[in-house]
Amino acid sequence: MNHFNWRKGVLHAEGVPLTAIADAVGTPTYVYSSATLTRHFRVVSEAFGDTPHLICYSVKANSTLAILRLFSGLGGGFDIVSGGELARVRQAGGDAGKTVFAGVGKTQEEMEAALAAGILLFNVESAEELEALDAVGRRLGRRAPFALRVNPDVDARTHRYISTGLKTSKFGVPFEEAVALYARAKKMKGVRAAGLDCHIGSQLTQASPMRDALTKVAGLYRELKAQKHPLAYLDVGGGLGITYADETPPSPEEYARTVLAATKDTGAQLILEPGRALVGNAGVLLTRVLYRKKTPEKQFVVVDAGMNDLIRPALYEAHHGLQPLVKRRGKAVEVDVVGPVCESTDVLAKARPLVLPQPGELYAFMSAGAYGMSMASNYNSRPRPAEVMVDGEAWRVVRERERIEDLWRGERA
Ligand code: LLP
Repeated sequence: MNHFNWRKGVLHAEGVPLTAIADAVGTPTYVYSSATLTRHFRVVSEAFGDTPHLICYSVKANSTLAILRLFSGLGGGFDIVSGGELARVRQAGGDAGKTVFAGVGKTQEEMEAALAAGILLFNVESAEELEALDAVGRRLGRRAPFALRVNPDVDARTHRYISTGLKTSKFGVPFEEAVALYARAKKMKGVRAAGLDCHIGSQLTQASPMRDALTKVAGLYRELKAQKHPLAYLDVGGGLGITYADETPPSPEEYARTVLAATKDTGAQLILEPGRALVGNAGVLLTRVLYRKKTPEKQFVVVDAGMNDLIRPALYEAHHGLQPLVKRRGKAVEVDVVGPVCESTDVLAKARPLVLPQPGELYAFMSAGAYGMSMASNYNSRPRPAEVMVDGEAWRVVRERERIEDLWRGERA
């Protein structure tokens, strides 16, 4: 459910016509609906009912300060993967004490900053990383609270680029090694075991891999508790998929039922790390048509947004819906919608049936709130888009469009 709706033939975000935003701010521009963000957060949280749980929004999905501030205001914590993300969380007023830190390559500086900030949990991904964390803890005279991220060797049945829970993946500690590693950690003075963690992949559209992975991980949690490890948190990761085209991912209720059934009787406080499910369908990318071009083979439509603004189609062959901001009538033709970037993969929408777009017309790439702006780059020396937050009838720019001078900030010719 989202708050992007047609009113009198014009696509709106909540009460605001998207054409008004495009005309005022220009394109390409990301637009987010705060009602949708709020709704998604609440629906996921309410699905877990009275079971103690903390939603740690996965910052990588969209790290824009206004979004972090909104989730923080709803009581959310954060899942981070770098010192930069920690700094963003704090800049947005987020609570380090509700923040968990994952990633296979945390540097000692990042660990120190996170420990000094008082984060809730380090999700440790290897034995060597645990030793490094122990050293940092001892140096700072603190015991760093940690969970091992275990790799349950379950196929998430998603795109291979965003699957993380197989034995061949770089993520997590091999499941079979976890018990020995917790035992070793007991003797370390700079760390203290506080939880157990897993995450098997992103854009999961089936409940069964989640159930299989969490059943294994919950079993390990009970075993570790029986061995008197003082665990309190079971972090079930993120990954709940959304509908881009015709996927039918589990509803938040089904997701919660799956998680709760697999983890019942652990007595653990659950940590959830949703990213895409909270922000994906709460954002769109506005773009303007520049040119049409017909070749013997194809009808191309060139727009002013490119793969540097939204890389998902180029990187994962991902599908994003495409809607004109002003509804059009007529016969649909099959078009390839491409950006200005000098790469053959800069195709944002392939073989789409559209009433042939006219130069100057405005369109929206749908479901672009997750891994859109956070993966945007300056490739081809293109300034990154502006971002706008809508709230009811009101809207505001939450990030200015990058200026040309920003392109060489810090450089010396
Ligand atoms: N927790 C961990 C440890 C993760 O690695 C991720 C995502 C999440 C939570 C959040 O997953 P989500 O709920 O958003 O599925 N750029 C790709 C997705 C990469 C996901 C990386 N990890 C894309 O655009 O599809």
